[in-house]
Amino acid sequence: MKLQLNDNFARIKPSYLFSDVAKRVRAYSEAHPDKKILRLGIGDVTLPLTPTVIRAMHKATDEMANAATFRGYAPEYGYDFLREAIARHYEQLGISVDAGDVFVSDGAKSDLGNFVDLFADVPVLVPDPVYPVYVDSNLMAGREIEYIEGNEANGFLPSPAGLSDVPRLIYICSPNNPTGAVYSKRGLTEWVEFALRTGSLILYDAAYEAFIADGSPCSIYAIKGAVKCAVEFCSLSKTAGFTGTRCGWTVVPAALGAVKPMWERRQATKFNGVPYVVQRAAEAALSWEGTKECMENIAYYKENAARIADLLTRKGIPFTGGTASPYLWLKCPGGMGSWEFFDKLLNEAQVVGTPGAGFGRAGEGYFRLTAFGSRAATREAVERLDKLL
Ligand code: MLT
Repeated sequence: MKLQLNDNFARIKPSYLFSDVAKRVRAYSEAHPDKKILRLGIGDVTLPLTPTVIRAMHKATDEMANAATFRGYAPEYGYDFLREAIARHYEQLGISVDAGDVFVSDGAKSDLGNFVDLFADVPVLVPDPVYPVYVDSNLMAGREIEYIEGNEANGFLPSPAGLSDVPRLIYICSPNNPTGAVYSKRGLTEWVEFALRTGSLILYDAAYEAFIADGSPCSIYAIKGAVKCAVEFCSLSKTAGFTGTRCGWTVVPAALGAVKPMWERRQATKFNGVPYVVQRAAEAALSWEGTKECMENIAYYKENAARIADLLTRKGIPFTGGTASPYLWLKCPGGMGSWEFFDKLLNEAQVVGTPGAGFGRAGEGYFRLTAFGSRAATREAVERLDKLL
């Protein structure tokens, strides 16, 4: 082929963080087929879909088998029944979101990556450490990225204090992936006020909001003025165990002016919607009964997190997260580097985590463990780490 390729791809790492981790684990497992590996790396759920969700999927599958109830292409932005269920979900959080501003998606990752299509070569502000999708999707599009560091001093919750007044696309994830830190109302208000003052747009990733239980905001729209300066991405992956089922949503408020019609246009061109069966499953997950079941699953993961947190506390290893988040972000003991610690845990305890350095320069020397494992795997991992550390 003689065509010039998008050389911005040379600016990103050749392989995605979780593919890298998986490759190393595969190599280890091939070399040591007798060893039982415990995976607390990628944040993938282990509990099955809940009964209410499964019932809805079966019913919708039967509808697809019958000419009278069969559905073809879904409405471009999602079925009304789901957009309205999502608006009701916000209502239960005490937040008013117009169902017409909700765009059903196949998960937060795709929309977070795709949303940057709407912008010219604008300045981008990304916290470090960070979910790699924010960085990679902007680098692929040729943008420069300004980083704002999360560290122990700011509790991994950087604030806009000291930033210039340049308008930017600003990424915020709370509860944070990877650090598990959660912004308070005051912390988010600072960002909203900054965005309103500077004409910036916040891209808010709320994928882990269901883990919040201490009154911290579950949505950026809990903050006054946010409808004029923020888009919110949310997902049922972690809330309802949809990592393989794929359904999420993006709220693009009409108050953002040109942004909403542009997103409508972009989605109508490049996205053909989420399957009917999955949208019915999502509706069920957001129902009263579905929410109750999902919260029971979240309580199970939180119990896993508490067991890991207890171990780290006993060992005197500093960490954040683990209470309003499925992630525990710990400082590698003995000043070890992130990948060095990864290798140690894999080789000496066959426990897989995610090296903090994979989430950015400021993540070097840190390590992420997930609470999404089964109880048995988590218990065994804690026992092995107890012996090793
Ligand atoms: C993670 O482990 O950070 C997440 O599972 C990645 C994702 O949600 O795409």
